[in-house]
Amino acid sequence: MPIVLAIESSCDETAVAVLSANEARSKVLASEISSQISLHAPHGGVVPEIASRSHSHVIRPLVEHALLSAGISTKEIDVVAATAGPGLASSLLVGHTVAKAMAAALGKPFVAVNHLEGHLLSPFLQEEEIPPHIALIISGGHTMLLHVAGAGQYRKIGSTRDDAAGEAFDKVAKMLSLPYPGGPHVERMAQGGNPKAFSFPRGLLHESHFDFSFSGLKTSVLYTLPKLDDVEKALPDLCASFQEAVIDVLLQKSLRAVKEFGANHLAISGGVSMNGTLRQAFQVACDKRKVKFSVSAPAFCTDNAAMIAFAAWVRYRAGHSDALDAPVHPNLPLLANL
Ligand code: KG4
Ligand code: ZN
Repeated sequence: MPIVLAIESSCDETAVAVLSANEARSKVLASEISSQISLHAPHGGVVPEIASRSHSHVIRPLVEHALLSAGISTKEIDVVAATAGPGLASSLLVGHTVAKAMAAALGKPFVAVNHLEGHLLSPFLQEEEIPPHIALIISGGHTMLLHVAGAGQYRKIGSTRDDAAGEAFDKVAKMLSLPYPGGPHVERMAQGGNPKAFSFPRGLLHESHFDFSFSGLKTSVLYTLPKLDDVEKALPDLCASFQEAVIDVLLQKSLRAVKEFGANHLAISGGVSMNGTLRQAFQVACDKRKVKFSVSAPAFCTDNAAMIAFAAWVRYRAGHSDALDAPVHPNLPLLANL
């Protein structure tokens, strides 16, 4: 069975995965992630120079470690893949260059992967095929609704007009003095809170299109803070109410897209899809409507290389590979041809 080695280094995680690819069912043999969160946390966000230095530092041992834990030698690799964009140029360059060098040294094909396609396909990692469905990508940099007819057949039907869903979590967490990245901290804090305590706005919810806006919600949280006697005490209620506002818009718009496009399958992906309350809300709503719901295992929601290996395999089996002088594309849109 073909072995795919993939590298992801678009932002602040260095990741390497080994996939045993198969027409029927692929298997992740190793998925290693070296997180840089502790390096960036003191700065409240990702510092590009720190990110690229750290990628360069850890990439080689991480490749060796991934091969070792997969029980695969370099000679057994059939395809080498890397994220080509979107992302930070200096970070993308590290993984992309190492992958191309490995492909050249091993005399194997190189496949460049769009990070967003990696997220988009991640709910179907280790499944047989990409079914027709409505897809919601919710990450730190993107919020996008798509109609997916099959592998490589994507039509964007909506996206955010300002902040991405994950970005809204991160910015609100910063306002509340919660650590970076904010999403998991807001979720944890929300667990003890009342989601009805504050009525925050649901941006563009009742518009007929499928675009999103989270800046009004963010501003509303900001303007609420000075009115509170004790922000610390109100944190659980603030987080729960903010989180519910985000989930509400994402869910209602996705369900409307499912209905309008006559779909019977909804899939969500990206870092925010790790949120347990959100997963539960989507599952319950889909069950109620007899719509199939897919989301990847939590380990494959946030940035990882297994999703890049899988997207590379889907591209490769469709006949795509890339030149060894292919550049990175920091602003790569999902629907662009690589
Ligand atoms: O997909 P991802 O790892 O990176 C990008 O491609 O952007 O997503 C990272 C985003 C961050 O904004 C982070 O706060 C958010 O995903 N996130 C969460 C949770 N875990 C990660 N948001 C809400 N709840 C979570 N549990
Ligand atoms: Zn991502």
